[in-house]
Amino acid sequence: MRWWWTIGWLVGCAGVEMSEEPTAPPEAPQQEQLARVEAPPPAPSEDKVMSPAAERGLALATDTHRLLPDNVGNDLVCTSCHLENATRPKAAPWVGVTDRYPRYRKRSGKVDTLQERINGCFQRSMNGTPLATDSEEMAALVAYAEFVSEGVDGVDMPGAGMPRITSPEPPNAARGQHVYETQCMACHQANGEGLTLPDGQLMFPALWGDGSFNVGAGMARLDTAAAFVKWNMPLNQGGTLTDQEAYDVAAWFTVQQRPDLEGKEGDWPNGDKPADARY
Ligand code: HEC
Ligand code: HEC
Repeated sequence: MRWWWTIGWLVGCAGVEMSEEPTAPPEAPQQEQLARVEAPPPAPSEDKVMSPAAERGLALATDTHRLLPDNVGNDLVCTSCHLENATRPKAAPWVGVTDRYPRYRKRSGKVDTLQERINGCFQRSMNGTPLATDSEEMAALVAYAEFVSEGVDGVDMPGAGMPRITSPEPPNAARGQHVYETQCMACHQANGEGLTLPDGQLMFPALWGDGSFNVGAGMARLDTAAAFVKWNMPLNQGGTLTDQEAYDVAAWFTVQQRPDLEGKEGDWPNGDKPADARY
């Protein structure tokens, strides 16, 4: 039973175009966002069996730092950000991703294959090193992405990526610290370093510190972090923070100490750096 499909699409598809609701009264949109359920894209049929390679890919995605210690330099797993086994809308789901690559990306200044995109997350989000393109592990991750993408038109898929929001007022890190302390700290801890059990099982991922993503990661950028938090945090309460709170808390945690990225000067080689780039 692929419970995460149903839950993910029902919860996450609520209000795909939500932030702009000019006719709604000011206090209403939040509730409306949560209540509105749009038609989910087609999900793979229940009886579809995962190939052994796709099963392996799922295991790698959910237990990355333990299974791939040579390629992962922090405490995270892929599904720390790609929630619900990488099927949750607005948490950069891998659903349909096989249709979205190869694709031109400004950061690399070239057309990236899906394998290169995956390795981008290994080097930045996981603060690690790329997998060999022809490795069994890369094939497994791609097989899992293919599994969740089957039967889906991924090109203009609602819920792809992390739909960006805007900050009503300039983001304020001091207010964000307060949001952090009241809404995030219980799980992500006072020092931001999350919680890993003695056996290596990850409970709560690190938002900063050595166990977190590096400065070159998408999540280290203000707009990306604010969007992710808005739709997905606090855990299981996505959509409950205001856009301002999401921006404020992102302004707080993205600037905390985290690993550097060697070679980051080579990013955006064509001079089209986004406004929220950290370097
Ligand atoms: C710290 C958070 C984080 C972690 C951990 C992470 N990613 Fe990502 N990933 C992102 C962000 C952010 C994006 C870009 C989303 C956006 O900008 O809309 C992304 C995008 C992707 C995409 C492209 C999705 C699309 O639709 O374009 C793939 C594929 C991907 N990641 C694979 C992986 C794999 C494989 C791992 C584990 C080895 C991983 N990611 C770990 C944050 C993360
Ligand atoms: C109830 C516990 C809980 C609370 C509260 C919570 N989170 Fe999370 N958060 C998680 C878990 C668990 C994950 C990893 C996803 C998963 O395992 O499903 C996560 C993932 C994340 C990630 C991506 C992974 C990483 O390490 O960067 C960010 C960013 C994040 N949370 C920020 C926040 C912010 C900001 C708040 C407060 C507004 C918050 N979280 C509140 C449990 C929580």
